[in-house]
Amino acid sequence: MLRVEDVTYIYEDGTVALKDVNIDLTKAKKIGIVGSNGSGKSTLFMVFLGLLKPSKGRVILNENELKYDKNTLKELRKCAGMVFQDPDKQIFFSSVFDDVAFALRNLKYNEDEVQKKVKLAMEKTGITELQNKPVHFLSYGQKKNVSIASVVAMNHKLMFFDEPTAGLDCNSKENIKNILEDLAATKGKTIIVSSHDMNFIYEICDYIYVLNKGHVLSEGKKETIFLNKEILDKAELEEPFLVKVHKYLGKELYKNESELFGN
Ligand SMILES: Nc1ncnc2c1ncn2[C@@H]1O[C@H](COP(=O)(O)OP(=O)(O)OP(=O)(O)O)[C@@H](O)[C@H]1O
Ligand SMILES: [Mg+2]
Repeated sequence: MLRVEDVTYIYEDGTVALKDVNIDLTKAKKIGIVGSNGSGKSTLFMVFLGLLKPSKGRVILNENELKYDKNTLKELRKCAGMVFQDPDKQIFFSSVFDDVAFALRNLKYNEDEVQKKVKLAMEKTGITELQNKPVHFLSYGQKKNVSIASVVAMNHKLMFFDEPTAGLDCNSKENIKNILEDLAATKGKTIIVSSHDMNFIYEICDYIYVLNKGHVLSEGKKETIFLNKEILDKAELEEPFLVKVHKYLGKELYKNESELFGN
């Protein structure tokens, strides 16, 4: 339902952040966008969300070219939401509850409905006990969870997560992994996750696009991409731990660490 075709994005200072990019989000339910720092992941997400307009090429929503008028942007916002890389860019309100409720209230849901959806999203993301806390007192990881809860509350069909685990400890990472798995298991939902944490992407996603200096260097099923050392080297990405275990210790290619350790 959403794809970009031949997209180039050039920032005002002349930086070419994306060059002739083609990405189709119907390829899988859990799509990984990987690339080293500055490869264009966040720019790509902002193009997908209609926040940046491509310098060349187009965004196609439900087989129509996105025109950036109020109505089509509204249609896009209804079906797609994003958790920003930097939670401070997404959090505006004084209390956690109000912040998670913001978009729902903005869309004029009745207050009963808002309460229900926000409570559920806070439970899912483990932030219920923070609900009355002023956002500026929260730790970075807690803020990250608040920004995830805001998107979970909206229940979009397409959910973009830009570096969801950056700066998080391993418990929080595990928690986010479970939230993403849960969302992707819901009928009709697709998650799109960007990261340079290859272990995280390897465990979560099934189809991968590799970005390198704004180009799509390669795309394919995760096994194909992650077993190709040449591509990973070129994109300056490391092999996931489980791929190393497979290649260098001769074990089978496990899907996640629980399979390897049997727990
Ligand atoms: N507002 C801006 N003005 C000019 N150049 C920018 C701007 N924002 C990003 N860029 C440049 O565009 C390129 C892509 O940046 P982007 O933030 O999309 O990369 P990224 O893959 O998300 O990186 P990271 O892994 O560090 O988050 C980089 O070269 C960056 O310096
Ligand atoms: Mg980024």
